[in-house]
Amino acid sequence: MIRVAVAGAAGRMGATTCAAVAGADDMELTGRADPALGTTLPDVLGGADVLVDFTLPDQAVANARTAAQAGVHVVIGTTGWDPEALRAAVHGAPGKVFAAPNFAIGAVLMMRFAAEASKHMARAEIIEYHHAAKVDAPSGTAARTARLMDGDPPIHSVRLPGLVADQDVILGDVAQTLTIRHVTTDRTSFMPGVLLAVRSVAELPESPVIGLDKLLWPL
Ligand SMILES: NC(=O)c1ccc[n+]([C@@H]2O[C@H](COP(=O)([O-])OP(=O)(O)OC[C@H]3O[C@@H](n4cnc5c(N)ncnc54)[C@H](O)[C@@H]3O)[C@@H](O)[C@H]2O)c1
Repeated sequence: MIRVAVAGAAGRMGATTCAAVAGADDMELTGRADPALGTTLPDVLGGADVLVDFTLPDQAVANARTAAQAGVHVVIGTTGWDPEALRAAVHGAPGKVFAAPNFAIGAVLMMRFAAEASKHMARAEIIEYHHAAKVDAPSGTAARTARLMDGDPPIHSVRLPGLVADQDVILGDVAQTLTIRHVTTDRTSFMPGVLLAVRSVAELPESPVIGLDKLLWPL
């Protein structure tokens, strides 16, 4: 059994992670750290093999340092922190660290297929669709998709109630188009990727490792 603690356990992603861990046959949920629950990170590290962090951009790196220095492996889902700061914080620590800005396995596959297709078709455009509360545009996933593709495809951002997080990559060439579409219906879409990372983090060949693609196509 992998003993898993969650930081940000009272938040949207943290609570979803707690439920996924509790439902996994090979994992045990041993701790839930969140100021909203009156529990701190040190409270939950003692009984854990892996910490999953879904907190705030200004908390994730310090949490990872505390856990990794205590010998607890870390999976970071929080976004918006500086990769160089993370490298400096956890380099040489006994706990390994894995982070992914997007834990949806379908989104990672979409990016890979779009990158490949862009080598063979004349032009492409990206349309990303997110819930109305999302503050940033374009999404980090759309920007990363565009960086991975040939031809610098333009990005269109749609923000509407009723959406979660979808993306279309449309490629066009003579008398044909190809659409690569990733659609999510709720936050559980991230959980297969989170659980894969929890199962993989202890065996990483280096630390930190950033990006779910590194687990799908190992180093
Ligand atoms: N990697 C992915 O695939 C993915 C997917 C969705 C969201 N996210 C990211 O996950 C993060 C969390 O998103 P959310 O919607 O769950 O936010 P949220 O605001 O619902 O939850 C954050 C929680 O963290 C708690 N918290 C703050 N500081 C803490 C600390 N030091 N220790 C423990 N808990 C602390 C807060 O009390 C809150 O309950 C964001 O950065 C978001 O961008 C990543």
